[in-house]
Amino acid sequence: MSYQLLKGKKGLIFGALNEQSIAWKTAERAYEEGASFVLTNTPVSLRMGNIGELAQKCNTVVIPADATKVSDLENLVTEGTSYLGGNFDFVLHSIGMSPNVRKGRTYDDLDYAYLMQTLDVSAISFHKVLQVCRKLDAINEWGSVVALSYVAAQRTLYGYNDMADAKAMLESIARSFGYIYGREKRIRINTISQSPTLTTAGGGIFGFQNLLDFADRMSPLGNASAEECADYIITLFSDLTRKVTMQNLFHDGGYSSMGMSLRAMQIYNEGLEYQDVRTDRSKKRTPGA
Ligand SMILES: NC(=O)c1ccc[n+]([C@@H]2O[C@H](COP(=O)([O-])OP(=O)(O)OC[C@H]3O[C@@H](n4cnc5c(N)ncnc54)[C@H](O)[C@@H]3O)[C@@H](O)[C@H]2O)c1
Repeated sequence: MSYQLLKGKKGLIFGALNEQSIAWKTAERAYEEGASFVLTNTPVSLRMGNIGELAQKCNTVVIPADATKVSDLENLVTEGTSYLGGNFDFVLHSIGMSPNVRKGRTYDDLDYAYLMQTLDVSAISFHKVLQVCRKLDAINEWGSVVALSYVAAQRTLYGYNDMADAKAMLESIARSFGYIYGREKRIRINTISQSPTLTTAGGGIFGFQNLLDFADRMSPLGNASAEECADYIITLFSDLTRKVTMQNLFHDGGYSSMGMSLRAMQIYNEGLEYQDVRTDRSKKRTPGA
């Protein structure tokens, strides 16, 4: 259903790789809500995914840019605002990647060159986007900027690895830049901490299917889908949330406030009973036990 919440607004959307991407769903919803925007992703991802189809559907263009390269970002912002015929009202940073996760390096055996790449791509790129936009004065007054985070910024989740450090930094950048941009131009900057979601980036995390199941069992409302995340992002881009800034907003069905749920406990109990049976059997098999 469309409420025309973004009617007349212009935007910039990073991170749509394929139909599963949170940025893809957000672009579809933003288009339905009356926005015009440009899409961007790295030259490599343009070859890997099918962002061209999305651009066609949303009647727009794709401007390639590596978000870690300031010169790419300058070109993107200049070309993007010129294509749209005006400054941006909203920007979505939906970017994440860890070479340590990809190569199976555990947190106690990190490759430090990879760690620097993780931080650059997944967190510092957010600062670069904001700094370039500010220097080129490319975001309108009362504009809204959103980046995507995960609860591993606050809590340790086995397997999330150095992405946890990147997300902690990302959330900090939202607060630090949120003060500057808010004071100067009433531009708000927030992060959304999303449930585990089956996407290319999400699927790369160790034990992802179990994490998905665990989070769903722990959340009273269940995991939030990519479509639901897109809906939430639209509200943050709309004029209905003009005084929300410098926040990390949990969009996770209640997961982040839980300690233990009945549904998770049931599985844990079943697991314990299974383990007890096995231990019992093995005890019986042990001679003299
Ligand atoms: N999927 C999840 O479980 C989950 C949960 C919470 C938060 N997030 C976050 O949501 C965001 C979007 O991820 P997604 O789940 O939609 O997966 P995705 O793989 O569809 O999106 C990640 C995007 O980052 C882009 N990217 C990587 N390096 C880049 C660079 N140097 N410059 C520009 N773009 C680059 C990729 O091309 C891709 O489009 C990420 O920040 C991710 O950490 C995901």
